[in-house]
Order: sequence, then C-alpha cells, then structure tokens
Amino acid sequence: MRFFSSLFPGLRVAVVLWLAAGDAAFGQVRQDILLTTNWKFSKGDVVNAAAPDFSDAKWQTVSVPHDWAIYGPFDGNNDLQEVKIEQNNEKQATLKAGRTGGLPFIGTGWYRRALTVPGFKPGKRAVLLFDGAMSNAHVFVNGREVGSWPYGYNSFSFDITDFLKPTGPNLLAVRLQNQPEASRWYPGAGLYRNVHLIVTNDVHVPVWGTYLTTPDITAEAAKVTLKTQVEAPAGTRAPLRLQTEIRDAAGKVLTTTTTTLAAAPGTFEQQLVVAKPRLWSPETPVLYTAVSRLYAGDELKDEYRTRFGIRSFRFEADKGFFLNGQPRKFRGVCNHHDLGPLGTAVNAAALRRQLTLLKELGADAIRTTHNMPAPELVSLADELGFMLIVESFDEWKKPKVKNGYSQYFDQWAEKDLVNMVHRDRNHPSVILWSIGNEVPDQWAPGGVSIAQRLQDIVHREDPTRPVTAGMDQFDAAVGNGFAALLDVPGFNYKPSRYPEARAKLPQGMMLGSETASTVSSRGVYKFPVVPGKDKKYADNQSSSYDLEVCNWSQTPDEEFVQQDALPYVLGEFVWTGFDYLGEPTPYDEAWPSHSSYFGILDLAGLPKDRFYLYKSRWNPAPTLHLLPHWTWPGREGQTTPVYCYTNYPEAELFVNGKSQGRQRKTTTGSPQARYRLMWNEVKYAPGSLKVVAYNAAGKVVATEEVHTAGPPHHVRLVADRTKLTADGQDLAFVTARVEDAQGNLCPEATNQLQFKVAGAGSFRAAANGNPASLEPFQEPRMKAFQGMLVVLVQATDKAGTAQLTVSSAGLKSASVSIQTTSAK
Ligand code: GAL
Repeated sequence: MRFFSSLFPGLRVAVVLWLAAGDAAFGQVRQDILLTTNWKFSKGDVVNAAAPDFSDAKWQTVSVPHDWAIYGPFDGNNDLQEVKIEQNNEKQATLKAGRTGGLPFIGTGWYRRALTVPGFKPGKRAVLLFDGAMSNAHVFVNGREVGSWPYGYNSFSFDITDFLKPTGPNLLAVRLQNQPEASRWYPGAGLYRNVHLIVTNDVHVPVWGTYLTTPDITAEAAKVTLKTQVEAPAGTRAPLRLQTEIRDAAGKVLTTTTTTLAAAPGTFEQQLVVAKPRLWSPETPVLYTAVSRLYAGDELKDEYRTRFGIRSFRFEADKGFFLNGQPRKFRGVCNHHDLGPLGTAVNAAALRRQLTLLKELGADAIRTTHNMPAPELVSLADELGFMLIVESFDEWKKPKVKNGYSQYFDQWAEKDLVNMVHRDRNHPSVILWSIGNEVPDQWAPGGVSIAQRLQDIVHREDPTRPVTAGMDQFDAAVGNGFAALLDVPGFNYKPSRYPEARAKLPQGMMLGSETASTVSSRGVYKFPVVPGKDKKYADNQSSSYDLEVCNWSQTPDEEFVQQDALPYVLGEFVWTGFDYLGEPTPYDEAWPSHSSYFGILDLAGLPKDRFYLYKSRWNPAPTLHLLPHWTWPGREGQTTPVYCYTNYPEAELFVNGKSQGRQRKTTTGSPQARYRLMWNEVKYAPGSLKVVAYNAAGKVVATEEVHTAGPPHHVRLVADRTKLTADGQDLAFVTARVEDAQGNLCPEATNQLQFKVAGAGSFRAAANGNPASLEPFQEPRMKAFQGMLVVLVQATDKAGTAQLTVSSAGLKSASVSIQTTSAK
C-alpha cells in the first residue's frame, strides 16, 4: 500500500533488558539496583521533607512499588466529580462518586530513602530511572531538586551524579501530587512502579541507549541493525570499541561484531546477521539478546543487553495485517493498568497471571489504554507472545477532565512521546504506537495539525511502526482529515460504519480500536432476558446474558459480524479484558459502584460468561459453556433462557433428561443467533441442565452439565500456582469456591470467608469481583460474590511452605499448600 511498504517494510525490534543486579559480569561495570525496600512514606504535604536532616522516623515504612490509595477506605467523596461526560452523550452534569474508584488518591505524598551508591567514586555515573510515578513527580537528592516529570504513566530518568556526595550518606526524596478531576478512571497514587538506581562508568551506554531493528528477514538470514549511543566525558581519548554478540534464548553466541567509534560521545552503528532466524509471533515468542561490550582501549567500560525478536509485519490496503507474511486479525483487548486488589502497584506475577488468562481466552493483542504500560507488561508480552498497541494519551490540548493532561500538553507531549518510544521500541511485541484515545481535538480547531505533529514525532523516533489513534467522533474525524492522516485509523464502537470509513478514507483498512463495551457482573442473571442500553437494577449489577450495553456500544456479536464480513478491518480490541477500578458505567451515578462492569474477566480475574463467548471464537481448543447457573429456587416453571457459548456448530439441550431441542448457529439472522446457541423458552426446573454438542458431521463430540446446588457445605480452593519463588514478590492467586456437599458451586453464596496464611507466605489481598462491594481488599476476610472470591498469597523471601486456610462459619474449611523456592 501507498506508504507503509516504504515506511514499514519488515519489522524488527528488541527490548532494553533490565540488567540483573548481582550478575557477575555486570557487577564491575554496570549495576541496575531496584530500590524496593526501606522507603519512608507520608501522605500530605510536609515542609522541608526533602532536606537530608529532616526526621522521617514517624513516617510509615513501605516498599516500592507502592500504591498509597489502594488501602482505602472507599468513600464516595474521594474525587467526587460533578460532570457531564460528553463522550457518553450525557446532556447534563451529574454527581459521579465512583468514577475514579472512590479511593483516596488525591493529594500530596512524600517518599524518602537513604541512597547507597555502590562503588561510587570519580569516574562513575549514577542515574535514577523511574518506571512511572503518580504523579507530578519532583525528585530531590541531598535536598536539591534533580528534576520533575508530571505525567504519571511515563518512565523518566535523571542523572544524579553531580548531586551525590562522594562519600555519602545520600538522601533521595520524591514529592508526588495528584489533583482532583484529573482522570476518568482510577490512576493510583505514589511510586507505583519500580525505581532503579543505575551505576555505570562515565564511558557508558545511556538509559534506552540502543535502537535495534531487523530490516531484512528471509528464511535464510535476518539482518540486525543496532545503533548504540555512547556517552563519555569530553576529551575521552582512548579509542572506544563496541563488541556486540547476538545470543539465542539458550545463551548460545550466534554471531559477533566489533566496531570502533571515531569520536565520543557518539553512536555506534552495527550490522549483524542471524542465520536461519526463528521468528517471533504470539504463538512462537522466540527472543534473542544482543550483548554489547564497550571498551576504552582494553578496559571494559560497560555491558548493555538488548533483548529483541525477529519478525516482519505489514499493513495492506483491503487485505489487512500480515505478521511474518501470514494474514491475521488482532484478537485484542484493551486494559487499564490497575491490578484489581493490588491497585496500581506493579507486580510481575499478577501481570503474568493476567496474560496467562488472556492466552487461555485466545487473545493475541493488548492495547495499553490510555497510557504507557509498566515495562514489566511489555517484557512479558515479548515472552508470552502478545502484540501491543502502546498508547500515550487520553487527551491533548482540549480537556476531557478539568485537571487532565491538557494542562501539560504543550510543554510535555513531545518529551512524553520520545520517552515512550525510546523505552519500548526494541520490543517485538510492540506493533503500533497510539498517539491518543478519543481526544476531543478530533473536532477542535487545530486538532488535525496536532495529530500530524504527534505522528511525525513518533515516526522520527521509530520509523518502523505505524501510528494509530482511537477515534469516536466519526463524522468530524472522517470529515476533517484527522482520520485520513493516521497510518492506521482506529475506530471506537463504530462497526456499522466500517464500510463508510473504507469508502471515505485513503488507507484502505481500519482497526476496531475499542469494541463492545458490553457490561455484566459475573454470575448475575436478570429476568426477563431482553437486550438493553444503559440498563440499571436496584442491586447495582448487570446481567451476564451479555445483552446489556451502553448507549454508544454494542454486544460482542454485533462487532463479530462486521469483523467476519470485512477483510479490510484489522481486528478488534475489546473494552476490556479485565474489570478495572473506576468508571462503573452504567452505575456512574450510583455509589457504591466503583469499579467497571466491562471486563471479560472480573476485578478478581475470574472469567465472566463472556470469556467463553470470546474463547469460542479466538481459541481453537473446544469451548462448551452453559449459562445461566441452574439454582433458581422460586423460578420453578418460569421462562429461564439458556445460552451455550461454544465453537461447535450445533447442540441439544436437556433439562432433567428432557430435550429442549437442537440449536444450530446460523449464518444469517440476528448477530446473537450466529455466535451463540440459545434456547429462549426453557422453563426452569431444579435438577440437571445438560448440553450435548455435535460437530459439523453431526456426531456427538462433547457434553456439559450443570446441577442445581444444595446449601453451602464447604470451601474449595483452587490455586493458579502451587510453586512460587521466595522473592518477597511472587503471588499465588487462590480461588475460593463455596460448594454444596456434592461439589456444585453455590452460585449465589455470599458467605463471609476468613483467610489465614502460615509459613513462608503472607496474605496480600482478596477480591470478589463485586463492583459495588466496599469491603477493603487488604482485610483477611471478605464475602463471596456469586459463590466465589480470590485470595492472593505472597511469598516471603525465605524458601519454605506457605499454607492458606480459608474458613467460614458453618462451612467446612479448606487449605492449600504452596511451596516457595529461592530465586536462582
Ligand atoms: C470509550 C473510552 C474508554 C471507556 C469506554 C467505556 O469511549 O475510550 O476509555 O470510557 O468508552 O465504554
């Protein structure tokens, strides 16, 4: 197609690998130390808190990553917003209590910590790298301000060499401040991502100092091009030499090159060739590492690792997206950054669990809405195989919320984009950059030229990937040139208008950058079963028949119809993979709702019915899932529709052995009739609900049965992992189910469960996925929601056995043992 073939010919990429502190080879020349422990924290502004001699003895001791607000308590007055949400087509302002989660994240917070810089002496340099700090960070070393960074989602670094005392002690202080009405969801608060202290020689590769691309890939060979920046003190005379080797995932050296730098500081350009490359894809996430050793004369000065993948992609008009030459559509989800009960405090085990669940769903892509993700997410996407749209902004110059990013836009947008691209441009998982989501500048004067400028900045920093944006104002953006200038236009909730966009836009393709926004509460079913927009119920829950949407959104099936019909539509990114804190639409005005209903999985990471609808489409493994549950005392004889989400074409349903008829997916008719099997007239009778699936040849291939549950009898525990690393961070997610004597889930059980962890672990948090529950996540007790909840057990740093026991008055309790072993 017109422009990608030259601008984005194959693909490339790598990861700036975080360097393991303690790696002997690095130890001498480069140390990347995570500053996790021994932080002091105080909420509220404090005079003089940056001064080294200030006494923080009374402050709370915390470890980082730390989200100061997730501990609550929930309160509808936290960031109470009286707003008219224009994106939601609201006509007047109303009071919204849970819009940003109802948690106490507003205000100022201070962090302080002693800074020990190992081996610091003349000739060494020290840098602080913040993976993200929420928000308006001001960083002080020994009482002097080193720098500031307003946007809470971005990574940024400061060279602190000149602020350090040669012999110590040194004191690091960080002031953060969150304004009210600055967000449309829960942003979190504090040093919620990692802080690195990086110590190098003065001749060194700076933060994000490599840019690795793979411009030519054939079955025989892949060309790897590496640009490595080197910083060196003025007047460095010894010739600088960069030796780079490429290693495969097992560490075997495949090829090596050495280059001499004419003048320092400067950039080394190197080309290497990997023979018979193994290509990266979501199904084969093969990674390589470039290890670069920087010498001044014969002295090793730095060692820098860049993890990368080899893969090509292209976008072609009318044909769509190709990865490694193979056409595919994105099976994507949008996700916000919070981790439910952990808040925004990043945790690699929690992210890995999310990605593992998304793999089971059959998803292959994530859009990091509406901001830069944690670096851990990007690395895990490389390792586990997900394609990413890395997004930057939710607003530009024209605000969506009173104190949002628009106040920083003019001064910071370019810096924020540069950091975003530099940090993540070596990752094979990153396929597209997004310059914005539903920005009101789509229709504001000057918006088109802003879009052009931002896209140009991204192209300048990374010409290997196209730029997209999520658009909601179809008429304005298609009419004024905004949509036409983007490399890949993205539309939010516009499936019926894809053909019109195809006709009016030059690109010949488009993305469902945000789709569905169907709302549901796990395990909750409302009768009668009727589709509806903005439906609300007295219990603040939404029905899990997956027919309830917002006035701007659709059921999953409506999007599927268009995705299947139109080859030029590149795939979809469902809003959302996981429920998140804040934005409790359709209960924006109905406290105590304070977390979303949009997720395919709930806030605890438990799959809703919709999980199986998407799985039946995205994952070729068999899916045969029935809804609703079958325990309806009082509904005897009443119409209780039964749906089956399956990738088999046909099935027969039985209630207590009596056939309810065979249903087959259709190719015409309502969108639901094409993607679901539905028995709308079933009369409820307690007992057994059974479905028998047939394959295309009419043979019985699978069955699934649900039984009416008796009274709650015991707790059953199911751990996602029973082996953890004893690193003080690793987590097991244990699902607690309230079951009857026969082992059936009691689908409406609300028993209060108590948690005890003994041995080599501790209770970290719990969640039940109820968006209207005000129970704190950190108390060792919580009510089951629709019969279930999830308990998070965290490994200590001592190897051993952790034992979780979950008990409840009147129920037989249960225990699970988790082994923890020392990190290698
Ligand atoms: C979109 C928006 C998302 C979320 C979603 C809910 O318009 O981009 O951030 O608000 O609606 O349906």
